Amino acid sequence: MTSVATDRSVRSLLKQGIGQLREANVPSFTLAAELLLLHVANRDRTWLYAHPEEILSAETAAQYFALIQRRVNGEPTQHLTGKQEFWGLEFEVTPDVLIPRPETEHLIEVALDCLALRELRAGRSPRLTGDGITLVDVGTGSGCIAIVLAKELPDATVYATDISAAALDVARRNASRLGVSECIQFLESNLLEGFPSLVYPERSLRRATNHSPLSFDLIVCNPPYVAQRDAESLPREVRDHEPPAALFAGEEGHELYGALITQAAQHLKPGGLLVLELGYNSLPAVLPLLDPSHWTEVGVTNDLAGLPRVLAAERH
Ligand SMILES: C[S@@+](CC[C@H](N)C(=O)[O-])C[C@H]1O[C@@H](n2cnc3c(N)ncnc32)[C@H](O)[C@@H]1O
Repeated sequence: MTSVATDRSVRSLLKQGIGQLREANVPSFTLAAELLLLHVANRDRTWLYAHPEEILSAETAAQYFALIQRRVNGEPTQHLTGKQEFWGLEFEVTPDVLIPRPETEHLIEVALDCLALRELRAGRSPRLTGDGITLVDVGTGSGCIAIVLAKELPDATVYATDISAAALDVARRNASRLGVSECIQFLESNLLEGFPSLVYPERSLRRATNHSPLSFDLIVCNPPYVAQRDAESLPREVRDHEPPAALFAGEEGHELYGALITQAAQHLKPGGLLVLELGYNSLPAVLPLLDPSHWTEVGVTNDLAGLPRVLAAERH
């Protein structure tokens, strides 16, 4: 039941909110209560501890406890505040997109490192502006990967695809808010099918009438990789609130990698890079898909939990 606060000071509201979330076994209950209070008060974090005695209005306190109750009922904090930080930037999130995860920052680090290494090997400076680089983020969701890459590589030509039109709307809004809407072309597409293939141009050009043949220096993707049969073991915040198309790829969870790797081989320039995020147990199924006649310099990067999280490979 929603609490009615008698003491509406910041300190008291926070304490009550934390207590309700802890009692309901909500993970990261202190952080969640803080973020929800900051959201309704429309303040930043320094205010929270600098003004513990400040009294909030009855209306703000009621809004806060309504959000606390929704969090108790399982809605993710990010859906209640409408935002998530990623790579030091604030992204809008809605139930139409995956909430950006910290592990995905590894994928971006690996992509930037691989590009820099490629420059070094070619005898050029590893400091990249993205000049001459064409890249695509497949399954862009909130747009977090494409937007960060557009910011880190301001001279690159950046594409972002998703099969979900609703996700692309969120990604476009994020690109606009973060000042890179001019730098990214968003495309509704099943994997890379919206781009004409260089290998089968006639077949592909029939499908993609608005795009001229393209080949990429970099293809990045954080695909859906949860096994359908693991759905019940997911936290309810994820299972009941994040988009199924962003979570599940099939019964095993690694079904999308095969098609993506095949298409990537057709769309990368020689020396082009493929960088994929992996599910915690995807590596044994995905690694054999990298046919050595197409791929070289295969590397795996672990996340902070020591799990193989990013797979990178270079097209021969
Ligand atoms: C795991 S989410 C990743 C979202 C975002 N890139 C991130 O890292 O937070 C996977 C995304 O791929 C999209 N997707 C799923 N199947 C797809 C397909 N066949 N082609 C293109 N996008 C797809 C989903 O709609 C979802 O936005």
